[in-house]
Parts: sequence; C-alpha cells; structure tokens
Amino acid sequence: MKSIVLTVTVLCASLLAGAQQKQPVYLDLSQPLEKRVENALSLMTTEEKVSLCYAQSKFSSKGVPRLGIPEVWTDDGPHGIREEVLWDEWGGAGWTNDSCTAFPALTCLAASFNPKLSLLYGKSIGEEARYRNKTVLLGPGVNIYRTPLNGRNFEYMGEDPYLSSHMVVPYIQGVQSIGVAACVKHFALNNQEEWRGHINVDLSDRALYEIYLPAFKAAVQEGKAWSIMGAYNQFRGEHCCHNDLLLNKILKNDWKFDGVVISDWGGVHSTDQAVKNGLDLEMGTYTDGLTTKGKFPYSDYYLANPFLKGIKEGKYDVALLDDKARRILRLIFRTTMSANRPFGRFVSPEHSEAARKIAQEGIVLLKNDKQFFPVPGGKFKKIAVIGENADRSLVIGGGSSSLKVAYEKSPLDGLIAKYGKDHITYSLGYASGPALYGREEPSKLNADSLINAAVEVAKQADIVFFIGGLNKNHFQDCEGGDRKSFSLPFGQDKLIDALLKVNKNTAVVLLSGNAVSMPWINKVPAIMQGWYLGSEAGSALAEVISGEVNPSGKLPFSFPKKLEDNAAHFYGKISYPGDSINQYYKEDILVGYRWFDTKKIAPQYPFGYGLSYTSFNLGTLSTDKSVYGKEDIIKVRFTVKNTGARYGAEVAQLYVNDPVCSVSRPLKELKAFEKVFLQPGETKNVEMDVKVSDFAFYDESKKDWNLESGDFVLQLGNSSGNITQKLKITVK
Ligand code: BGC
Repeated sequence: MKSIVLTVTVLCASLLAGAQQKQPVYLDLSQPLEKRVENALSLMTTEEKVSLCYAQSKFSSKGVPRLGIPEVWTDDGPHGIREEVLWDEWGGAGWTNDSCTAFPALTCLAASFNPKLSLLYGKSIGEEARYRNKTVLLGPGVNIYRTPLNGRNFEYMGEDPYLSSHMVVPYIQGVQSIGVAACVKHFALNNQEEWRGHINVDLSDRALYEIYLPAFKAAVQEGKAWSIMGAYNQFRGEHCCHNDLLLNKILKNDWKFDGVVISDWGGVHSTDQAVKNGLDLEMGTYTDGLTTKGKFPYSDYYLANPFLKGIKEGKYDVALLDDKARRILRLIFRTTMSANRPFGRFVSPEHSEAARKIAQEGIVLLKNDKQFFPVPGGKFKKIAVIGENADRSLVIGGGSSSLKVAYEKSPLDGLIAKYGKDHITYSLGYASGPALYGREEPSKLNADSLINAAVEVAKQADIVFFIGGLNKNHFQDCEGGDRKSFSLPFGQDKLIDALLKVNKNTAVVLLSGNAVSMPWINKVPAIMQGWYLGSEAGSALAEVISGEVNPSGKLPFSFPKKLEDNAAHFYGKISYPGDSINQYYKEDILVGYRWFDTKKIAPQYPFGYGLSYTSFNLGTLSTDKSVYGKEDIIKVRFTVKNTGARYGAEVAQLYVNDPVCSVSRPLKELKAFEKVFLQPGETKNVEMDVKVSDFAFYDESKKDWNLESGDFVLQLGNSSGNITQKLKITVK
C-alpha cells in the first residue's frame, strides 16, 4: 500500500513538473525553422523517424501522432487537384466535395510564354490544394519534350531548357506561397512512357546538364521547391528514385536541395539503394511490383521494417535516417505546421478566370490564309462543328492527371454560347473509345457512317470548324504508354479530306499535347493548336475563334513534318525507344529546334512560332556595350510596334550563337524572351537582361560549365524560325 501511494505521488510530481516545462521548441512558432526541426527530431524514437519515410495509404504518409506532428497528404497534380481515392487503391473514394477546377495542361501554360501566368497558375492551383488540405502537390512536370510520341508530353513544358526553367519557377513560387509544397517531377530523364519502369537511359554529360537538368535546377535553386519526385526509369544503371549520381551528388550536394525526395509511385526497388542513394519518402510500392491492389502491408515497404532492421543491426548509419527525417519534418514545418499558412479556396470564380486567361494566352494560331480567323458572330448563318473533341471530356483520362471536375465547358458549349444554337450544327465525324487506363477499347460506332453524316452537315454549312486531335486514351496523350503513330488517330485524316472535298471553308482546330502529322496542311485554310484547356476550354477557344481575344501563344516545341525528322527518331531504335533494356540519346544536345536548325531540316512549324490577328515589328536591336566580362549582364534593347489594327501581344525571343567554340554548338539557344502587349499602332521599348554566364556550355573535359571568350551573335525574332536581326558582341 505504502509503495503504491509513493508511486502515485512521484507520478503526480513529475506530471506537474512537465506541465510547468516549456512547450517543445518545435511547437514554438517564434523559433526559426531549423531549430524546430532539430527539436522535433530530438524528441523522436528511431521507430517514429523510420515511420516518416514511407506511405501509410495510397497518397499519404504518417506523421508523429504522439508529438502532434501531422500526416503528409500528397495529391496529383499538375493541372488540378485529383479526387480523393480509396485508402489502398487508385479507385475514387466517392466523396462529393472534391470536384475541382481544371487548369490548362502545362504545354498550354508553356505556350503562353508568360511567366506571370505561371505565377497565377501556381497560386490558383495551390489554393485548391490547400482547401483540400493537401501538403504536397504532385507537380509541375518539366521533363523535356524529346519525341512527339511521349504519352506524357502534355504534362510538361516543352523542348527548351530556358523556357521550361523560366516557366516552372513562378509556378512553384505560386503554389508554395499558399503553404503547399510543389513536387517537381519526374527527376530525371523520364522522356517516354514506353518501358518507363526499367529502361536504362544514357546520354552524354553535356546533354544531361545543358538540356535535361536545367529546369530541375531552376526549380530547386530559384523556385526553392520543397520536394521533388524521382523518375521510374533507370539512369546509368540505377533507378532514378535511388540514384546516387542524380540524388546525392547533383541534387543534394551540388544544388544544395534541402527538401524531400519522394519516389514515384512504385519506383523503389531496393532497401539498400533507397537508404543510401538519396530517397527520403517511399510511395506506392508493393512488394510484388507496381500493381493496383495492395497485397502486402505498408510495413513491408523498402524503407519500412527492412530499413528499421538495418538501423537496429547497425547496417545503416543513423545519420542517413536522421537526414531523411529532418527533410520530411522541414517539409511539414514549411507547410501544415507553418504559422503563416494561408487558407485556400476551391472552384472559386477567380480560379475559373485564371484557367480561362491561361487557356486564351496559350492557344496557338498556326495557319491563317486570307484571314480565315477570326470569325465574328453574325458573319455566317450556318456553322458546322465537326469532331469528337468538340464535345468530349478532355480532363478525364491520361493517367494520374485525370480530374473529377466541378464543370468543363466544351468547345461546342463555347461555340454555341458565342454564335447561338440556331447557327450551329454538330456532327461527331469520328469516334474513339472510352478513356481507360492501360488498355484501348475502340468505339463501337461505324466509322464510315460517321464520316458520311459529317459530310452531309459540312455540305450545308457556310463554314466548318473541325475540332479533333488526340485525347486522353491509352496510346494517345496518356501516362503508361507512348503513341503508336505520329498520325492523327481514329480516321481523322480521312475525315478531314472528305470534309474538304465538300467544303473548302474548313478550319482544323487540334486539341492535343503533342505534334501530329498534317497531310492535309496545304488544303486547309487555317489551323489552330488548342492543347487541353481545362474547365474553361470552350470559353477560351470560342473567344479566340471569334476574335474577342487575339491569339498570342507560341509553340513550346517544334512540330516536325514527319517523325523521322525528329532528332530522337533519326538515330533509330537504340535512341528511341531503346532495345527494351538500354537506350542512348544519340542526338545529344540537338533536341528540338537545336536539331532542325543545325541539320537544316525544315520543321512543319518551328519552336516559338505562332500567328496573331494583328502584325508586329521588332525595331533595331542594340546593347549597352559591345564588349562584356563573363559575369556581366547585357542590356538588350529594341522596340516592338503593333503595326496592325487590333490589340495583341508578341513574344520577342532572343537566341544566341557561339560561332567559334572548341565544341560544336547549336545555331540558336534561347536566352531571353518577353511577351509584349500592345494597342493598335502602339510602340513599346523593351529592355531584356541577358546573363553572359548563360552563354556557357557544359565542358565534359572539365566536368564543369565553361564560357570561352570570343564573339557571340545575338539573334532577335518572333520564333526560332524567324530571326529578323543579329548583333555581334564580344566576351572577354
Ligand atoms: C505518376 C506520377 C504521379 C503518381 C501518383 C505515378 O504513376 O508517374 O506522376 O504523381 O503516379 O499518382
């Protein structure tokens, strides 16, 4: 009895003492972040630290419940906030409060060439993620557009490292300003979906550093991304989710990344490598490979019990565990446990407006003979709208970016709203099957009957808008497979020919995330590239078609005439898609326009190209000096004049060439761009800051960037295919 009384007294005393103690520093919001992280870490057991490093459900990982440290909730990304899925499965959970705003695909954002819109995009999607209580947004994606067959190009920002770097940074800053971590993906070299889980990519160091890494580097160093996602594929013999060179050396050592490396879902293959080669958080694994249903518990994950056992047995250094836990805690303190975290909002009118603005500015006018566009209301009585994409949901499908949306205005909705129901006749024209993941199911409708019906409608019409392209079906613009052909699918070429036979006044509007072959190009008067435009697709397209909005988008990647003209395909199978085990990027640094220019192959449409309903003139190019030091900034000056009769925007593009260099260099490399908005007749002075250090190449002999002295040629134009002025400067 006596001893029980004593025990109770001691317990009470210690509880009282505890209550008088200060709160742990990690909860004291006035403390600097690193101090809070260290304090939290010091309070944790080994088990708790390990439990931070792997998933507890399909999209979340554990916090430390005992210490009040919250769970990490991730969600796709990158075009809207994905619906809630079941705890252990990919299938939707059936919530009724999770229908989001769909923003345009990242190819469209890149085509706007407008970093301000990128910031708006990031803030808007960040707010949607925040409202849904997400810690990490799984996006943006910045894998380089290497081949038009890649099924996921629509989720990325094009072929040019400068453009993608400058567009990705504000997106990240926008998302993170709302207290949600961006997760930049897929690091690195996941430039195709074919064999993505195992293909072993190799390429020169120069191509790696000059083409494939800059957008990730900018995301980390300028965007200050709080997390990054490892890619599925291998690079030089190691899977990218635990790749010593990519994660330990380049990302964490050279770039000083202090955030979390998250695996792609099911991208982890070894405890030893995951522990040692830079992975922090393991997601989506099953011990029987990447399947759709979990047969094994989360505690079987590579970074779960096997990691804990290794630590306990002294096989793994505790410092490795502490580093991972520290990074994950840092992410939690930056997001969920940040005192300054704003509240979000969901499907707000402002988000619709942002989606619409981005869609409007990304649409690219490719061809416009005899000013076919714009087509103002009232000009034509009978308008035929033909094609499945006019009336099909293009936010569903495509893999992990598939969205359950609050609403989606289709192109047909938009055109009917613009021109009036009585003036529009719609015909399907062609049909694909449903958007299924990982398999194709052709439409059951008869293709010839669809063509015949559409031809009848086109015959009666004053004007025809054909709205086709690709879609989010398997083997189209969709994760998990590449396109099988460069041609338009589902018999669209045949349909377009048939329409043109009965009505020459037929324009082609393509909704896709990739270039396609255009055998009918000389027969159609007008072509518009409309990407995947999200919830406001219909409004934005109708506004551009009718002329309420003047198109100002520019292509973020080159459109080849035929597939073999594309650099990756030129070198045959080992270059793309590889021999099923290995792949070598034989075109080296000559990706996109760098290839077309240097090899003197004419593309169908060059990088940076896009027409307007008005015309512009770029005035005389000058610089503040003619001789520069290697650390200098060149002040590049010129004027842009709107020489036409409509308000519009031109994207001035500055490319550089190093004519004499110890290594061969592309004829053009984009080093600056500026989107200039002008009233009719208005002239604006433009001044661009161009860093001389950006002219360096990656020198394999030095394993570092190298800027050789000498002359460089600045080239100004409104596309990579239309340089109107050149100016020589010297670097000493
Ligand atoms: C994709 C990622 C995505 C993840 C979670 C993976 O299959 O490659 O981009 O974020 O799934 O859905």
